[in-house]
Amino acid sequence: MPRHFLTGAELSRDELDALLDRALQMKREPLAATPLSGRAVALIFEKPSTRTRVSFEVGVRELGGQPVVLRSDEMQLSRGEPLRDTALVLSRHVAAIGVRTGEDRIVEELARHSSVPLVNMLTAGHHPCQALADLLTVREACGTLDGVRVAYVGDGNNVARSLAVLGAIAGLEIAIASPPGYSLEGSLELPEGAAGSVTLTEDAREAVRGAQAVYTDVWVSMGDEATADQRRAALSSYRIDDALLDAAAPDAFALHDLPAHPGEEITAEVLYGERQRIWDQAENRRHAQKALLELLVSP
Ligand code: CP
Ligand code: NVA
Repeated sequence: MPRHFLTGAELSRDELDALLDRALQMKREPLAATPLSGRAVALIFEKPSTRTRVSFEVGVRELGGQPVVLRSDEMQLSRGEPLRDTALVLSRHVAAIGVRTGEDRIVEELARHSSVPLVNMLTAGHHPCQALADLLTVREACGTLDGVRVAYVGDGNNVARSLAVLGAIAGLEIAIASPPGYSLEGSLELPEGAAGSVTLTEDAREAVRGAQAVYTDVWVSMGDEATADQRRAALSSYRIDDALLDAAAPDAFALHDLPAHPGEEITAEVLYGERQRIWDQAENRRHAQKALLELLVSP
């Protein structure tokens, strides 16, 4: 039975700690390990991507492997080939499969029939690879994750959910502020026995109090375009600016998974200023995912 990575809840706290250690090691020595030597990894994109595609493609190469990037509209999937058959065939050729798609049931169905590890590269519900990079960035900045407070301000979406799931496993104290109707309330399942905690509120100032990191994401995710106007209206005050950072812990820094919309969920001053670790966070995608792939493909 292969090890899949669909929500992040598949990892224990010890495994997650070790993975982050390994990612930091790989960041220092990016070409030192080649666990994918002579093997290929399929990367299926049904939605646009800049960071995920580049970080996986380059990361697989750095691990000695061959990335095979597949746009789903160019695959037989787009002509009705079943997910099951796609998973069965890809499993005969590659060491792992990454998938970016909409509905979570698609990655679940592919995983059910794949005999190699399946990695969720973003669904409507989860973005666990992003959360690995988020944790790596907080750990680099704070030296630990144990009891560190991280606030997320904005839409209770895939990025917020994965931050909550993996942050709780890692021992973070997560506070998520969202307006009514955009909260994770009722749709957040934390792994049993998680070391950290997650609190949900409508009050951004309350969430950021004592927080070392203040995180946000877009107001309109891929697939949410039909409700863009009402989202922008509801989320308009859930923005990271200097005043919100002033209300957090001293030396608090901003995080954003990107792409950003300066002037909406984050100000340009914060995005391009000194009070952020957003560009490090984008780089950390590659290091964290390399450590993940090594873990998943190792016997
Ligand atoms: N953060 C992130 O997943 O970016 P992309 O959509 O560019 O891959
Ligand atoms: N919540 C965003 C994340 C993009 C990386 C989306 O799903 O579009």
